[in-house]
Amino acid sequence: MKNSVAIVTGGSSGLGKEMAKKFAEQGAFVTITGRDSEKLKVTKAEIETFNGQVLTVQMDVRNPEDVERMLEETKDTFKRIDHLVNNAAGNFICPAEDLSINGWRAVIDIVLNGTWYCSQAVGKEWISNQQKGSILNILATYAWTSGPGVIHSASAKAGVLAMTRTLAVEWGTKYGIRVNAIAPGPIENTGAAERLWASQGAYERTVASIPLQRLGQPEEIANAASYLLSESASFINGECLTVDGGQWLNRRTFLKE
Ligand code: HXC
Repeated sequence: MKNSVAIVTGGSSGLGKEMAKKFAEQGAFVTITGRDSEKLKVTKAEIETFNGQVLTVQMDVRNPEDVERMLEETKDTFKRIDHLVNNAAGNFICPAEDLSINGWRAVIDIVLNGTWYCSQAVGKEWISNQQKGSILNILATYAWTSGPGVIHSASAKAGVLAMTRTLAVEWGTKYGIRVNAIAPGPIENTGAAERLWASQGAYERTVASIPLQRLGQPEEIANAASYLLSESASFINGECLTVDGGQWLNRRTFLKE
């Protein structure tokens, strides 16, 4: 990642922050985006205490004008863009039959539309510069299994998986741009952990469902992210790397407990 420029949406907390930290540690210049300017400021100071240069852009990925401004500010500051991580997400638990139209729209807008606005804007920039960048989308395994209780997020992430594979072929063929994804499982110290398995019972059931019998650490996602973006993964394109301790494969056992 040394001397490359990476944009991480939703980069002020959780997995986004951990990825931004990792990239900076490896010598990258990083733009982090988020809606809360105070949180962005604190994260920038935290990362820069140890290494790197961080640009913060207060914005909402749901707004294409914000995305354009973020791109311009990144180019003004760092002169180029090499990597985009579409990490910004929104989610809450709600039975499908109770989900309001606005609730559906909010999550689809952040996850599916926001990922598209950022990908197209950065992709067009690379195409006009004849540059080969790489994009990484953050998914969830329920993009291809099922997400009872999070129909909006599951539908949006499934769309982002299709976007990943489609752009990998369309832009890979014409421009050499790589597009990959990571599907993290349950990871400690994330918004998802706070929301989706906050109670002791939910936590214990979650750990029991993971073959490795523990939650993941944010750094384990950041390591996978820097690998997929970097030249070490130069022949990996259109792939989704699941980092979940084997959870999604775990159905039932024929062995005695
Ligand atoms: C039911 C809800 C709700 C809830 C919001 N809504 N929360 N409905 N249950 N808990 C409804 C609101 O009532 C409203 O509809 C509509 O959604 C929009 O809500 P707002 O609060 O106005 O929207 P906004 O401020 O834009 O917030 C967006 C958000 C919010 C998605 C609702 O949660 C958010 O900003 N989250 C960002 C952070 C986040 O969620 N991170 C977790 C990502 S984890 P009405 O009809 O009332 O107008 C993840 C991966 C999980 O995605 C992976 C697991 C393995």
